[in-house]
Amino acid sequence: MLFSLRPKESRRELFDRDEEYKELTRLVNSGLWVAVLGKRMTGKTSLIKAFANENNGVYINLLGAKGVEDLAKNLLIGSGYKVDELAIDLKILQVKWSKVLEDAFQRVKDKIIVFDEVQEISSPHFLKVLKSVWDKYSGIRIVFSGSYVGILRKLLEPSPTSPLYGRKPATLTLKPFDRETSKNFLIAGFKEYPQVNYKESEIDEVVNRLNGYVGWLTYYGNFRCERRLSHEDALEETVKEGSKIILSELNNFLKNRKRELYIKALRTIRSGARWSEIKRELDINSKVLNDILKNLKSAMIIEEREGYYWIEDPITKEAVKKLRI
Ligand SMILES: Nc1ncnc2c1ncn2[C@@H]1O[C@H](COP(=O)(O)OP(=O)(O)O)[C@@H](O)[C@H]1O
Ligand SMILES: [Mg+2]
Repeated sequence: MLFSLRPKESRRELFDRDEEYKELTRLVNSGLWVAVLGKRMTGKTSLIKAFANENNGVYINLLGAKGVEDLAKNLLIGSGYKVDELAIDLKILQVKWSKVLEDAFQRVKDKIIVFDEVQEISSPHFLKVLKSVWDKYSGIRIVFSGSYVGILRKLLEPSPTSPLYGRKPATLTLKPFDRETSKNFLIAGFKEYPQVNYKESEIDEVVNRLNGYVGWLTYYGNFRCERRLSHEDALEETVKEGSKIILSELNNFLKNRKRELYIKALRTIRSGARWSEIKRELDINSKVLNDILKNLKSAMIIEEREGYYWIEDPITKEAVKKLRI
């Protein structure tokens, strides 16, 4: 069902994304490591999960994983270890986690390994293990995905001192659907619920309001068809629920950062602003400001073109309204 809220798991369930799927296949087959990037709710998880499933690969979600230890456990479970077996094995071994992780990689080295939400892992050991995995098992195929912060940035922009220097993964960026595709997505979704009536003007309004973020469109469709809300209520609920999700992600992003400055910057950027305007508003030196803007950009929260900054996702705009200093 297109309006199901869970990530899609097979190619058959994916709406559109044919080109991206083929490109991902091509990049992985050419032996490159690939990072699948894109804003929240553009369908990254669905794409890579379907890709892993269709290719007998291993999909590993690192949400909530803290370090190499959790990573190793997830990978072992993904490779078919039973959880109770694992608990016993790991108790006996007075383990060095990097070693366990390498062993875990060894077990799955012939499969395509897909790591989702990679940004969660902040351990520098991860990069070291990746390097040694790369050296040992040439040809090991790995796909990374997540919102572009933390470790993902270290993977994508390895500094000369990084173990992964010179091994930058190829990137594949998922864009929101264009207007036409968004409308067709909604129409195709509604087709699965012949008992639900909708008007074309409603579809237009939804796409105007939510843009081409397939995740938000799915929420709307689900509220409409599964929960049987009216068009107005479904749209309102989508914005409400969606901004709650984004708000908690923003709060997560702001941990250990200069919260007040970031929030001020986001509030200014919310209605679109030039660099000089933001600078005036925040009253900080250029270097600090540039750092903030760079971080917001690489976390795909804001957009920039020629010194003009804005927020594209309407739900993120709502969430910024709710951020408290
Ligand atoms: N290509 C697609 N076709 C149909 N539904 C999709 C597609 N991509 C994503 N979805 C739906 O959108 C929502 C968010 O997708 P998800 O893959 O979790 O996005 P992301 O990982 O980018 O945040 C889910 O409900 C999922 O089922
Ligand atoms: Mg995801």
